[in-house]
Amino acid sequence: MTAVPLHDLPPRHTDAARDADRALREHAEQARHWHLADLFADDPQRFETLSLHAGGLLADFSKQRLTAETLEKLRALAGARGLETWIRCLFDGGEVNWTEGRPAMHWRLRQPPRPQGEPDPVQEQLAHMERIVKRILSGQWRGCEGDAITDVVNVGVGGSDLGPLMASVALHENHPREGRRPRVHFVSSMDGSQIAPLLDELNPATTLIVVSSKSFTTVDTLSNAATARYWLEQAFPKRNGAVLRCHFVGVSAKPERMSEWGIHEDNQLLFWDWVGGRYSLWSAIGLPIALTIGMDGFRELLAGANEMDRHFQDAPWEHNLPVLLGLVDVWNLNFLNITARAVLPYDGRLKHWPSYVEQLEMESNGKSVDRDGEVVDYHTCPVIWGEVGPNAQHAFYQLLHQGTQPVACEFIAAARHGRRNGNSAELQPLEEQHILTLANCLAQSRLLALGDRALAEDDGTPIHKRYRGNQPSTTLLLDELTPRHLGALVALYEHKVFVQAVLWGINPFDQWGVEMGKKIAKDMIQVLESGAGADGLDASTRALAAYVRETQKP
Ligand code: F6P
Repeated sequence: MTAVPLHDLPPRHTDAARDADRALREHAEQARHWHLADLFADDPQRFETLSLHAGGLLADFSKQRLTAETLEKLRALAGARGLETWIRCLFDGGEVNWTEGRPAMHWRLRQPPRPQGEPDPVQEQLAHMERIVKRILSGQWRGCEGDAITDVVNVGVGGSDLGPLMASVALHENHPREGRRPRVHFVSSMDGSQIAPLLDELNPATTLIVVSSKSFTTVDTLSNAATARYWLEQAFPKRNGAVLRCHFVGVSAKPERMSEWGIHEDNQLLFWDWVGGRYSLWSAIGLPIALTIGMDGFRELLAGANEMDRHFQDAPWEHNLPVLLGLVDVWNLNFLNITARAVLPYDGRLKHWPSYVEQLEMESNGKSVDRDGEVVDYHTCPVIWGEVGPNAQHAFYQLLHQGTQPVACEFIAAARHGRRNGNSAELQPLEEQHILTLANCLAQSRLLALGDRALAEDDGTPIHKRYRGNQPSTTLLLDELTPRHLGALVALYEHKVFVQAVLWGINPFDQWGVEMGKKIAKDMIQVLESGAGADGLDASTRALAAYVRETQKP
């Protein structure tokens, strides 16, 4: 297959695109007067028309403020914006990341092995990762004093932390039945507040540090890694070489930087520039996931994502989950002017899902310059935040139910709890807790949608106790929270982010807005330490720095 050259991609500002956009705007004028309670009353087939099952996931869009006609018009806009060609370009390895001149091939990491004999760097790294995982889980990997590993600390930040953290916690009940189970910890914050209490508790002789950084220059990660190294070298002063060899693994796209830092060549796992940081959990960045669920589980995760990749490429748009999810968000943001989205997993295992999605979406699509180098005059990504749903009910649902802002909500739950290993596996009350949680999920989305009309009628209810409703939501039900289903869910979100970026004409694979953050703090260290350079600062920053210096004086 040859890659589609970028200049062959259809222009965005065509008559067809303008017409599709205008048709949607006119349609939105009517939609502004719709109430979800009426939409349900008027169309008993609404759920059947506006829901979809793919990759072990059921998506229900019927509680969104839209109709089948809306989706048809949105598909017309996607067609006019060249989505079909863009999808082909993505999967042909075209340079969809045009500001960095490279493809985005995270999907390549979850493809099945190539026919035997063909060199396949992806499978080679997977095999290398498998060897490391097996040695750790079998107890063959030894610390410098000869002890088996009991604790693994992943040191990384952003994409080198959030994906592996989210998936390891989500799937922790799927650990292999045989073998050792190292505890897997995550350290990301540069201030040392996460690593310090861990080092207080861990035994250096049985601890392995995984330094995860695509660039291997991120100061957050390197400062935590340096602290961990200092801790180990202090513990074993006479075993300097062995400390690095036995207690550190590195994961990066920059092997030379890993070597320079001291990671032994055998302990280096590689991935590539064409995998974006926030799209990298499928690579060796997923090592903590593999250590949690075993290599078979990790391959299942990849298989689930691969299934979603194929669905995205092949399914007609009427039944294409990433396309529809992307279009619904565009409808809410650009046509209904709903600029906030709440991500609400009804499953504590998905407690890191909101942070993961925040990075995936806001770092990808928080952009304002389009492919033609023009500043856009429409919204791109909404503001996204979230929390485990039942806990959020006792925190910010008040605003969702009775505040002044429309918020698009996203409910995510597992229809069946699924496999549970460990001593709690047989506890019947846990099944009841699962049902209780699902009941809350369904009850909340219903009340948010229908408002008072979801309740028994009582005209005498005072206004402060009323529910306005019409708060739109999507519900995503995983058949079960297995590695395969989670793989499909993550790939679904990756692709829907791409769909939206195509409609908005922006590059979802760079992050120039945060690159500067990696540099600007350097000079400020001097200001804080010695005051040097303070004169050139603005009055606020200068005064804050002076206050810190003053307060730190002994
Ligand atoms: O915060 C910006 C960012 O570049 C993210 O995109 C990335 O996931 C994170 O930093 C970590 O980068 P690295 O893996 O290179 O340490």
